[in-house]
Amino acid sequence: MKIISVVGARPNFVKIMPIIQALKARGIQNLLVHTGQHYDYAMAGVFFKDLNIPRPDIYLNVGSDTHARQTAKIMVEFEAVLLRVKPNLVIAVGDVNSTLACALTAVKLHIPVAHVEAGLRSFDMKMPEEINRIVTDRISSCLFTPSSDANENLRKEGVASSKIFLVGNVMIDTLIRSKPKAGKLKTYKALGLVKGNYAFLTLHRPENVDDRKYLTDIVSSIKEISRFLPIVFPIHPRTKKNIKKFRLQGYLKNSNIRCIEPLGYLDCLNLLMYAKLVLTDSGGIQEETSVLDIPCLTLRENTERPITVAKGTNIVVGRDKETIIKAANRILKGTQKQKKDIAFWDGHAAGRIVDILKNFLTSNFERISLRS
Ligand code: UD1
Repeated sequence: MKIISVVGARPNFVKIMPIIQALKARGIQNLLVHTGQHYDYAMAGVFFKDLNIPRPDIYLNVGSDTHARQTAKIMVEFEAVLLRVKPNLVIAVGDVNSTLACALTAVKLHIPVAHVEAGLRSFDMKMPEEINRIVTDRISSCLFTPSSDANENLRKEGVASSKIFLVGNVMIDTLIRSKPKAGKLKTYKALGLVKGNYAFLTLHRPENVDDRKYLTDIVSSIKEISRFLPIVFPIHPRTKKNIKKFRLQGYLKNSNIRCIEPLGYLDCLNLLMYAKLVLTDSGGIQEETSVLDIPCLTLRENTERPITVAKGTNIVVGRDKETIIKAANRILKGTQKQKKDIAFWDGHAAGRIVDILKNFLTSNFERISLRS
């Protein structure tokens, strides 16, 4: 049995780590393919180091480009890998362009795909990730979901329930394993921050940062909040470019906002663990803060992760300046949501996935081998 697992962008690295460990523990041969969608040390290399992920067996070196060109480049390169390696299965995680491109390439060669983090829906087709999620789910043979709302979405789309497996959240597997190490770091101290007395901000969604009005509204609300609470802001390259392009640097200069380079996994977890408040448009951070019991304000109009609102600490506040400031003030005054446990977010999702895959591959082995 031979499996290829695929990564490309920052959140993929966090999700693949426990899966690689679970495959290894069960003696299943796995080749790690990195498409190179993210390539800077700060966006990729540091995650391999922090999470002890082995060096990729194959690096496709595609880099940044438009959606069509990036997806196409990954497909061309990945097709050559599949024809050479002939795996029995491809594992694709998350919702980035690499996820879609590799799943599509595999299924066209009749190689089954397992999609980890299946079934999430924002119902917003302007998000590139929503398109990636829908297409990847439609063509995958095994759909591993993190929460019951995802099962419901897939059922409504007519997916056979025999393909859907509620296994929990692999990102939380990684968080649970990394927390002791991250907790001991002094990242917040090195930045001159006090435990429990700062806000942590991340922003990178094109619908927020590629739009002059929304980016201006968000940065000006952040400036206002920073009058009461110091804010640390690791800036994604896309956001950095647009702050410059829209000439918004003035909001960040001479303020209580500490702009820093993108962070590795452990430093980011350290800053999340000890924050008073988190403001973000990231999907993963909504989940991480929900488990860490840190209040999270999501600066978007929707979320594909409603479980973090229903059971976690997440509040979807949108992008209106006054609404963001009011929501932050409520948290500063001590009003906080009570979190509840989320089923299967227990650190064992990857083990469940690999056990199911072992069964799937054994029962389909002859059929899959004949095809390849
Ligand atoms: C991608 C994912 C998004 C994910 C995010 C995590 C898609 C469609 N989007 O968005 O779902 O939440 O990653 O970070 O797949 N850049 C660098 N160095 C790098 C990588 C990118 O400087 O190592 C710059 C490039 O200028 C590039 C821009 O960042 O044009 C955006 O990168 P891209 O991978 O296209 O999308 P993200 O916004 O990072």
